[in-house]
Amino acid sequence: MDAAAGAEAVAGRQPPSVLPAVVSGAPQAPTYPDLVRDLADRGLLTGRWREVFEAVPRSRFVPAEVWRQLPDRCESVVGVDAWLALVNSDEPVVTQLDDGAGGGPGVATSSNSMPSMVARMLGLLDVLDGQRVLEIGTGTGYVAALLCERLGDDLVHSVELDPVVARRAAEALARSGYRPHLRVGDGEQPWPGLGLVDRLIATCALRYVPYALLRQVRPGGVVVAPLAREFWSGALVQLHVQDDGTASGPFRGGATYMPMRGHRVPDLHDVHGKGRARAAGLDPAQVLDLGFALYAGARLPGVRLIHQNTDAGAQVWVTRENGSAATAATGEEVWQYGPGFLWEEIEQTWWEYETEGRPDADQFGLTVTDRGQHVWLRDPSEVIRPARVRLARPGVGRPGG
Ligand SMILES: C[S@@+](CC[C@H](N)C(=O)[O-])C[C@H]1O[C@@H](n2cnc3c(N)ncnc32)[C@H](O)[C@@H]1O
Repeated sequence: MDAAAGAEAVAGRQPPSVLPAVVSGAPQAPTYPDLVRDLADRGLLTGRWREVFEAVPRSRFVPAEVWRQLPDRCESVVGVDAWLALVNSDEPVVTQLDDGAGGGPGVATSSNSMPSMVARMLGLLDVLDGQRVLEIGTGTGYVAALLCERLGDDLVHSVELDPVVARRAAEALARSGYRPHLRVGDGEQPWPGLGLVDRLIATCALRYVPYALLRQVRPGGVVVAPLAREFWSGALVQLHVQDDGTASGPFRGGATYMPMRGHRVPDLHDVHGKGRARAAGLDPAQVLDLGFALYAGARLPGVRLIHQNTDAGAQVWVTRENGSAATAATGEEVWQYGPGFLWEEIEQTWWEYETEGRPDADQFGLTVTDRGQHVWLRDPSEVIRPARVRLARPGVGRPGG
């Protein structure tokens, strides 16, 4: 079982919504103005963001060598027409594989994110004139350029871990006339001497929100970040920093970003022993619903999940550190391994979730303190507590193959 394919995804793996215009029967590649118009028509560019996007062509921040993210791999983009079509579409553009090391498995490690995701995140950031912003993950420099266009160079700070990526971004920004404050380093660590910012945006996925990050944001400030955990592969969170330095706020829909380097989701645990088969009481495709994934992630901490779509629906694999594991595919029986009955715990958690009225992802939120983070439902006081691990009783469970 390989978690890497599920973990190392690129921002927004949804079909492009900008279709080639048809003029006199001949399809024409979309242009950048088409892309911006599409984002505006979808209500994603509120306030001054439309004119800001119009002023910053994405193509200026995309290098010649790029890849398209497919569900299971990255595909090299060959030729100017294909390059332009990708850059002017609402798709992520992969700009680095395998942290820049040659001969690797071809996993995307830097990209110019999906424009609609960028627009959503900047909208959630809710910046006002005169506010200082910190971005984590400069990548190609496109988001930094949008922020410079919106706020002015001096209010924008951006940190990138990879020196090669950082240098390329600095050059692209300078060529376009933008000079934000740039730093090469680990964005998880405080930026020395930065002082407090009003807004923080992470453009790489976090497994948790490091408290050290919050300490860089003034009370009343806003943090927008994609989170990805063992059980769920990506959701945006919008946190408001409180006077006591803690932060709390709602989840704001799905977002599949490549992870911050120190936050990569680990592979599944090792699984040993004979499987035990039983009929499924739950279609595994339901487990992938983001609302349920947030709920189950909080109830069953430490349980890792990966999935792949199948013609019938989905196949999922789940594991826990104690060797408990299960795999289930739509329309097939479930196989459980090791101690306990992990699939039954997931089904039990599903029934709890149903009893809660199957809340969608936006009804969940997150609170971060100096002691960690916890997910809540509907109100910050309604923290979702971990369920007790149910271990197997001897002789329980049907033998399988
Ligand atoms: C999706 S890309 C960012 C896209 C970027 N905002 C843009 O406009 O092109 C994520 C970036 O985060 C960077 N990154 C990963 N871990 C990091 C860390 N610990 N600190 C800073 N940057 C990091 C990656 O190298 C990658 O370039």
